[in-house]
Amino acid sequence: MTELKNDLILRALRGETVERPPVWMMRQAGRYLPDYLKLKAKYDFFTRVQTPELATEITLQPIDQVGVDAAIIFSDILVIPQAMGIEVLMEEGKGPSLPAVIKTQRDIDALRIDGVEESLRYVTDALSLTKKELNGRVPLIGFAGAPWTILCYMVEGKGSKTWDKAKQFAYTEPVLAHQLLQKITTITINYLKAQAKAGADVVQVFDSWAGALSPADFKAYAQPYLIQIADALKDEVPVILFPKGTWYAIEDLSYSSASGIGIDWTITPQQARTFAGNRVTLQGNFDPSKLLAPIPEIKKAVREMIDAFGTQRYIANLGHGIMPNVPVDHAKAFVEAVKAYPGPS
Ligand code: CP3
Repeated sequence: MTELKNDLILRALRGETVERPPVWMMRQAGRYLPDYLKLKAKYDFFTRVQTPELATEITLQPIDQVGVDAAIIFSDILVIPQAMGIEVLMEEGKGPSLPAVIKTQRDIDALRIDGVEESLRYVTDALSLTKKELNGRVPLIGFAGAPWTILCYMVEGKGSKTWDKAKQFAYTEPVLAHQLLQKITTITINYLKAQAKAGADVVQVFDSWAGALSPADFKAYAQPYLIQIADALKDEVPVILFPKGTWYAIEDLSYSSASGIGIDWTITPQQARTFAGNRVTLQGNFDPSKLLAPIPEIKKAVREMIDAFGTQRYIANLGHGIMPNVPVDHAKAFVEAVKAYPGPS
């Protein structure tokens, strides 16, 4: 195995001393880089995801062009519903849609949870190829959606601001909801284990819509499944949990077997540290929209963010995914400011 030349993110996740905080950006692969947009014009979404050579090329773009300290494999969280036998369409400008929504016991019984090593082999192939192409430059992050967020898409059938149909399902059919969440959890654990075997050095679990739930409902429908995933993976690969919009859960999750917790920009670094203690590494939490500010403002805000988090047990990142309209120079300024800390770059 090629030795890593830059293992900052792994050391930060283990709580070891680092010279400076590592930096990467959620959704850094795809979305805003001009070279990605060229590939997007040529190949449809699932062709890009399912062709290891294309997925690898897209994964490497931000490493070569923006200088981040970790690669995240180009894929999507909705490959799990696909592997369970559900059709997923990705329409330009509309986002994902899943025409056959889950409603009944029969729908849940029909979902497949085994065979992920075969059905998602294109992801593990992309990870192995990317690992080879990276040649130890930076660690490679694998990922999956959290069970609650995947349930949201499977029940709602498309994106939503309120996720009221998904919540209605949970509140009116709690037994079915928990069966569905458990099935998603089981396949996700197998999937993340396969990713670790294929070369992922870290895995992140995206609970993008956890913040739609109240604290009590997060505890019922999201947290136990996040903890199950972290427990199942802990001996194979460090796990970062990112339950967006759930600052109140940081303390509980800091006692879990996760190595890192991703946080959004609605909490101060000091408050997050108070909840997390020194038990877990924090990742975040730059407002992605702030990358649209003038470059000197971005750099100043990055320095303030690191002043507040401190340089240890910390991974500099955004509080959610980078937006498609961010100029590449601004993304670079964010990364450069972290690398130059404590000085101006
Ligand atoms: O760094 C990366 O971008 C790696 C690849 C990646 C994609 N999706 C590619 C993608 C990752 C990590 C994801 C995760 C993902 N997918 C999440 C969790 C992260 C988050 O942003 O909260 C969610 C909720 C999805 C579901 C999804 N996939 C949506 C809502 C959309 C449409 C809107 C959007 O985000 O652009 C997608 C499509 C998608 N997934 C695109 C990309 C690059 C855009 C389609 C395209 O470029 O053709």
